[in-house]
Amino acid sequence: MRLTLMTGVMAAWGVAVAAQQAADAVDPEAATAGAFEAISPAVAEALAAKASGVPVVASDWMVAAANPHAVQAGADVLARGGTAADALVAVQVMLGLVEPQSSGLGGGAFLVWYDAASGEVTTLDGRETAPLAATPQLFQDDAGAPLKFFDAVVGGLSVGTPGTPALLAEVHARWGTQDWASLLAPARDLALEGFSVSSRLAGLVAGDAERLASSDVTAAYFLPGGTPVAAGDLLKNEAYAATLDAFAAQGADAFYGGQIGRDVVATVQGAAKPGVLSEVDMAIYRIKERPAVCAPYRAHQVCGMGPPSSGAVAVGQILGALEGFDLSAGPQDVDVRRLMGDAARLAFADRGRYLADSDYVPVPVAGLLDPAYMAERAQVLNTDAALPEVAPGNPAFDHALNWADDVSIELPSTSHISIVDAAGNVASMTTTIENGFGSRLMVGGFLLNNELTDFSFRSHREGVPIANRVEPGKRPRSSMSPTIVLKDGAPVLVVGSPGGSRIIGYTAQAIIGVIDWGMDVQQAASIPHAVNRFGTYDLEEGTAAVGLADGLTALGFEVNTRALTSGLHLIAIGDGVQGGADPRREGIALGQ
Ligand code: GLY
Repeated sequence: MRLTLMTGVMAAWGVAVAAQQAADAVDPEAATAGAFEAISPAVAEALAAKASGVPVVASDWMVAAANPHAVQAGADVLARGGTAADALVAVQVMLGLVEPQSSGLGGGAFLVWYDAASGEVTTLDGRETAPLAATPQLFQDDAGAPLKFFDAVVGGLSVGTPGTPALLAEVHARWGTQDWASLLAPARDLALEGFSVSSRLAGLVAGDAERLASSDVTAAYFLPGGTPVAAGDLLKNEAYAATLDAFAAQGADAFYGGQIGRDVVATVQGAAKPGVLSEVDMAIYRIKERPAVCAPYRAHQVCGMGPPSSGAVAVGQILGALEGFDLSAGPQDVDVRRLMGDAARLAFADRGRYLADSDYVPVPVAGLLDPAYMAERAQVLNTDAALPEVAPGNPAFDHALNWADDVSIELPSTSHISIVDAAGNVASMTTTIENGFGSRLMVGGFLLNNELTDFSFRSHREGVPIANRVEPGKRPRSSMSPTIVLKDGAPVLVVGSPGGSRIIGYTAQAIIGVIDWGMDVQQAASIPHAVNRFGTYDLEEGTAAVGLADGLTALGFEVNTRALTSGLHLIAIGDGVQGGADPRREGIALGQ
């Protein structure tokens, strides 16, 4: 026993050293320079546009996502007449290969869809789900104390039933026109040929080597021979190709009742820290169509995903609170930032108390977005200093509710895909395995999520239940904010981002950038971030946002400077389409 423990510790230490040596030895940008440009001339042009800070302009269709291979796969589908739904499938399965740390078949996603023929907005919930054997004590020790975050994340305990395979199949069945297998083929082929490891992926592997080493299968893929894959390495994923073959032949049944699902369950139950996911959980998983949540903002309708996401409610509340204020002085104006920051704090206070899976707790969505309620909440913003304290409000609701405030942790991860097809259909999907590399468990060539850690680890506070506590079959609260903005009933903007609970601030700011500050979508993706959620104002290091520090401090805010790696992907729709991709990540927009 002692020998095994020592060996494990030394192996982890060795991997950490190897990771550091690899990180020191390689200049990742140099190692991958030109790898994306080589995909196609269109990709090279799109990268050049992004580097110059200008949007990609097209007449018919546009796709924007986090990796050029994935965007190219989606563009190929749109160029041959596929719908946004077809392209979405191709983009997601490619992201699962080349950006495996952020999203994939082991995770979940929310889709907001605008149907050009009917003019309707539909939202589909493909969120991971707590196993039937999960209890509110899932992330507590024997004394009832919450586990440390990464003790909960790494291993089987955090894995919820994946929803992404079912969501892709549902999207294709509803709105796809192309042959299903043809949409999976490019990712399958690249998995067999191998892809060049990007500098971003290499850096993240090196930084997470110790946790990736906790599972043999995961280590064999990301740390072959104990050394982290490096930027520019050719990485093949035969297991993922086989998974896509099965997905092509059997559809979602390959996962929900099929062999891949059994392998997922065996991996979770057989992990060093086993989880409680079962084959029954896989078999009963369903995509849920939910009512779109739309909030008014300056003659627009901002539509997104309702519970179990807190995204659309919080973005809508931030915008609603700001509706009565003039923000035209722009992002570098301290008073504009005071208003945006404290509007966000008000929204996050309500989010912490009321937002959870509405199939388990009555969430007062209409009350929270009632213009009268938001205007009343916004009264406190008529001041000239930071709010000293922010508390949840009392929205109108039809049940007596008494919830305690939630403190669940969400770290940046995730990916966002925006697509407009030639017929005018729009897809806005945010997709995740939660933490970077999820639970660090890998099966079938893809990583399994740790989405259950989006639940509150505590179930009660001083005897009062927390709305977002773990319950069997429940979906954890999310911040993902896939959004479609409409004007006069027609879509004008598609937007969303990764970033944990900062997703809400990133998305709200981009919408303000376009509507209030008259920015194009590339400018809106590039605005230096200043994000507030719970009081501390986070300013993006190395950007003009740092210049806000003295002014915000003088107003009474606590200020913190840090990296804020959003991954915004936007499309503006008007006379043609314009796409923008976040300069902080590897994504691009491609159109025609
Ligand atoms: N796990 C990220 C989110 O759902 O917000």
